[in-house]
Amino acid sequence: MEKHKKQHIGLIFGGNSSEHDVSKRSAHNIYDAMDKERYDVSLFLMTKNGYFLDHEASSRVFDGEPEDEVAKQELAKLDLKNPLARIINLAEESDIDVFFPIIHGNLGEDGTIQGLLRLLHKPYVGTAILGSAMSFDKDITKKIVKLAGVPTTRYEVITPLTAEQYSYESLSDELGQTLFIKPANQGSSVGIHKVENAEEYSEGIRDAFRYDSKVLIEEAIEGPEELEISILGNDHPIASKIGAIRVPKDDAFYTYDNKFVDASQVKFDVPVDISEELAQQITEMGLTTYRALGLKGMARIDYLVSKDDKPYMSEVNTLPGFTNISLYPQLFAASGISYSELIDRLIQLAIDEFERQSKILYDFKPLPPRDQNINK
Ligand SMILES: Nc1ncnc2c1ncn2[C@@H]1O[C@H](COP(=O)(O)OP(=O)(O)O)[C@@H](O)[C@H]1O
Ligand SMILES: [Mg+2]
Repeated sequence: MEKHKKQHIGLIFGGNSSEHDVSKRSAHNIYDAMDKERYDVSLFLMTKNGYFLDHEASSRVFDGEPEDEVAKQELAKLDLKNPLARIINLAEESDIDVFFPIIHGNLGEDGTIQGLLRLLHKPYVGTAILGSAMSFDKDITKKIVKLAGVPTTRYEVITPLTAEQYSYESLSDELGQTLFIKPANQGSSVGIHKVENAEEYSEGIRDAFRYDSKVLIEEAIEGPEELEISILGNDHPIASKIGAIRVPKDDAFYTYDNKFVDASQVKFDVPVDISEELAQQITEMGLTTYRALGLKGMARIDYLVSKDDKPYMSEVNTLPGFTNISLYPQLFAASGISYSELIDRLIQLAIDEFERQSKILYDFKPLPPRDQNINK
């Protein structure tokens, strides 16, 4: 049989985070936007309990077969004693040219998959291990961007060991009456609480600690405008136009439900009409953030803007959503880069970065074998 002449892309999706279904929607859109004259695509679904399915089984789920049943049948075929059982299907096809992991959240955006793909010695779309891990942790993200001079909200970090040293009173003296409680490593607004008194505070931290042992207590920006920008590139990144998300007035904030359960009340402005000055500030902050965190390929960077028009960098998403309502691709479409072109560029950026990294690794290594220079 003839070998693949087209580029062979391994599209990885699903995953074990709260964004499993979002990832499936993203993967469908990416798949549809891929030029099939240029790419052959193999699908790899990571099940909700963290096992990769092979292309054949993943395709069946992609085409609408019930995921839980397919996963059950496929897991029964695996030798679960084999320590590689979880990942063995990912290596089933040896001729993948580039992996495109679009697993949002835990395992996908936190550097884990990136480490696995590095071990497989394959190019992959998006940021490498360190940048992914830093960007997934809201505390580290803020610390790094602050060092780079980008404004972000004030906060304290608590862990189960230090929680007793803080109280609602002490924190609200420092940060204001309204506080946001957030697990450091989470997404989709899961475990996030807006609190205004000691009782809500105690409930909030108890819940947040279910998701992470590191929790941020953050000052609230009152009635914020929520703006987002998309960035694309490696060493010379470009920024898209800016978009806004408007949540219904009576909602406390942009919650899981109005992200994923019923998004019909949420309004998006793509692009948003803001002052030239604010747009420029956000663009500069975005590019500085991107460089400071060592991001590659793409990222969506989110801002909270106060009533007096001050922007605060809020969070970074290194594998942003590609669903029908997702802003990352829409913002580039509004900036003149179509969905398919975006995919082509991301794949090329993955190859460029892999080649650059390989060159660094092989230009300086391997060191001469030790016994050659021992008696010099
Ligand atoms: N400091 C804050 N002030 C006001 N609103 C906030 C603040 N932090 C978060 N929010 C609200 O909570 C939502 C989710 O918080 P975010 O930090 O973006 O976490 P996630 O990673 O879960 O999206 C934001 O979109 C915003 O509506
Ligand atoms: Mg967010």
